[in-house]
Amino acid sequence: MTPVASPFDPLTLGPLRLRNRFIRAGANEGMVVDGAPSRALVKHHRDLAAGGVGMTTVAYGAVSQVGRTLPNQVWLRPEILPDLRVLTDAVHAEGGAIAYQLTHGGSFVTSLKVRGPTMSASSGLNKAGLMRGNFFQRAMTPEDMQRVAGEFVEAAKLCRQAGFDAVELHMGHGYLLNQFISPLSNRRRDAYGGNAENRARFPAEVLARVKDAVGRDLAVVAKINVADGVKGGATVDDAIVTARLLLQAGADMLVLSGGRNVESGWFMFGSNHDMDEMRKVLAGSPITGLMLKWSQHGVPKITFREMYFLEHSRRIRAAVDVPLGYLGGARSLANAEAAMCEGFDAVVMARPLIHDPALVNKFRDGRAVESGCTNCNRCVPYIYHPAGTWCVMNPPNDPEINKIRAAG
Ligand SMILES: Cc1cc2nc3c(=O)[nH]c(=O)nc-3n(C[C@H](O)[C@H](O)[C@H](O)COP(=O)(O)O)c2cc1C
Repeated sequence: MTPVASPFDPLTLGPLRLRNRFIRAGANEGMVVDGAPSRALVKHHRDLAAGGVGMTTVAYGAVSQVGRTLPNQVWLRPEILPDLRVLTDAVHAEGGAIAYQLTHGGSFVTSLKVRGPTMSASSGLNKAGLMRGNFFQRAMTPEDMQRVAGEFVEAAKLCRQAGFDAVELHMGHGYLLNQFISPLSNRRRDAYGGNAENRARFPAEVLARVKDAVGRDLAVVAKINVADGVKGGATVDDAIVTARLLLQAGADMLVLSGGRNVESGWFMFGSNHDMDEMRKVLAGSPITGLMLKWSQHGVPKITFREMYFLEHSRRIRAAVDVPLGYLGGARSLANAEAAMCEGFDAVVMARPLIHDPALVNKFRDGRAVESGCTNCNRCVPYIYHPAGTWCVMNPPNDPEINKIRAAG
């Protein structure tokens, strides 16, 4: 019998070897100047690498300017190469590896006005875009799909040039590639709609093209939903089909998440948002109190459970022979060890590492056995704050270093 790995054992993902199996999940840092990484972003990821993570993931890099959801979001283009290099150098100097999460919002464009209708798997009314007047979405044509797949490839090549160790293609949470996977947003009647295999076809094609372009040098990871968590959404059986296709397309690892920003944010976080903190941080922003109220319509009251995606993720573990990163409510060293016992290859965390970037070293040295994160979700609205994301239990971030480009 293969001995169970320790979360402190190294992990090989395609061409990449990680010093341990703790990965910081992509979690929007809000640390962007002019669509480029800020010095605050460099500090944020340097601290995580110094704090012991095997790999940190820079969140939410759009593959094109129209692929952005928010104005304070990086979009990947050659002009920002010097800023990206400062970021990768800082993480490597601390012995960590660094991934870039690549995304395209599709119709999920909440804070920008796009000219014409936004793109998605299918046409229709665009709920997520109502706030900024992006009322409608159009179905992507084969030419759109070719172009967007090419944008993912170009972004991945830029990441290679900048010294990243991995790219993570975002296929969850309701963004463009997920808009194909989920029956909530895919009503196509061609080879890219209908059954689960057809719905996962475009995301798998994107992954295959990225793998072909950079896979010899970079690990190619995808973040997928174990389920959408709502009636009519993708199920864990769909996720198994998606995972199989992504394995065939060459994925080096899948990070398992869940939920959709519009329909089921509570499922993603395993707990409810703190609406008072939202209102406080967003006061004066276009996301008004009324919209916040509307966004909470029909949201169930959720009680946080550690390892809240374990039941779903186990099903995928049992069905597909691909490296898997367990994500969702891992809060302690015991949770990380349990993930290894369950056959997962890595443990991926967001909120505990926002609360304490040094948590992995503390686990290793015995200074901590669990995170002090209380799952209050008050960090979430700070993605919109001028100082960037921080845990409200910690001292605030320095807003000044979030005004200067990484290479500035
Ligand atoms: C402040 C914040 C921002 C987030 N932004 C992103 C993001 O940009 N991309 C993403 O895939 N997930 C994002 N997430 C979700 C996390 O990656 C993760 O899926 C979720 O927090 C559950 O993991 P946890 O229990 O370890 O926190 C965000 C989470 C938080 C708390």
